Amino acid sequence: MKDSKSIIKLIMKLWVVVSLICLPIKAQEANYDESKVGTYTLPDALTTLNGQEVINKKQWEKVRRPEILKLFQDNEYGIIPNAKIKTSYRVLEEGEDALDGKAIRRQVEITFNGNGLTRKMLVLLYIPKGVKKCPVFVSPNFQGNATTTTDPAVIESQFSVFERAHQTSRWSYDRIISSGYAVATFHYYDVYFDQDDKINDTIYPLFGINSNSDLQDNTGKSIAAWAWGCSRVLDYLLTLKYIDKKRAIVLGHSRLGKAALWCGAQDQRFAMVISNDSGCSGAALSRRNYGETVAKINHDFPWWFCNKYQSYSQDVSSLPMDQHELLALIAPRLVYVASAQDDQWADPRGEFLSLQEASKVYALYGLETLQGSSFPSVNEPLWKGNCGYHMRTGIHDVTDYDWQSYIEFANKHLIP
Ligand code: GCU
Repeated sequence: MKDSKSIIKLIMKLWVVVSLICLPIKAQEANYDESKVGTYTLPDALTTLNGQEVINKKQWEKVRRPEILKLFQDNEYGIIPNAKIKTSYRVLEEGEDALDGKAIRRQVEITFNGNGLTRKMLVLLYIPKGVKKCPVFVSPNFQGNATTTTDPAVIESQFSVFERAHQTSRWSYDRIISSGYAVATFHYYDVYFDQDDKINDTIYPLFGINSNSDLQDNTGKSIAAWAWGCSRVLDYLLTLKYIDKKRAIVLGHSRLGKAALWCGAQDQRFAMVISNDSGCSGAALSRRNYGETVAKINHDFPWWFCNKYQSYSQDVSSLPMDQHELLALIAPRLVYVASAQDDQWADPRGEFLSLQEASKVYALYGLETLQGSSFPSVNEPLWKGNCGYHMRTGIHDVTDYDWQSYIEFANKHLIP
């Protein structure tokens, strides 16, 4: 039994290594020449499907926002069936003196029951000590809860194949806690294995979806599931007296950045949404031929988006929406898009242009927009109204610089 577990761990590790080796190969095929991006016309976030101009927030909220939300549901991320499932919470561990005595640690198992099946999610939560009501970051992790910290009390996530403390550089827990924010994380595999043909092991069977053949054109897959997971963590957090309902933040990196955006677009309980290097089918405009494209992402990761999305691979101009409208769904709440200079695969300029275009919707709320701003220089964050952007030096990653910027931006808006 132990042997078979080690073999599975080895295979999964090899799979991760092979995908990382393949990344530069894919990247070489992409266009990185701004003069070859091509011309494109973006769908107007402020024109309804029947051609009416949206001139006030009432029209936006009643007509255009629901239209755009549905376009993303039906054509890109897909929906999660609306079947009732039962959820329960069990505190597995609690420590009063975590992170050098600055935080309370709580580890909670969330159990979902549906369709005669059970799925479990393990949440690691750190709360700053002595704060009555604090804002909270909800952010899924890639390698398992115990890889995010050197804290020996952290329980290993069920599907983690990595050593403890393997990815601590991405988690500025000390900075987060010292700044008065709580933080909750879970291993994204608890919700959906990041592999093809794994639907049976995910949350979908709770809703009666057991294999690819059960999928409708607009049934969600992994991105929708990871987004769903973030909302389920928030459900739990909102039961706690020391978490401020009005100051929850969802943050994701890369594929989990796509998920964080999709989560924040739908779940308006999140007061701030952060995309860290989410790139193609995240913050970046799909119609720009730069870095990763819709065709490439659909080819390489067919388990991320709904089946319908595949039909746009050969002609992105036929997409009835583009990613700036995903960002616009977050309006008037806080939105932060971050890029990295050496992460051209994610198209930093396309991420900025997308946010700039989305910011038009913020004007309906009397907020400042990014219209007229030029693409900022590296390490010079541009914050206007409720929209924040930066491109830092370095590679595709989450760094302390990113956390510091998110916290400073959040402090400006969320801390009285
Ligand atoms: C690949 C993929 C990206 C994704 C990234 C990640 O590079 O092409 O779309 O964002 O993996 O999740 O790290």
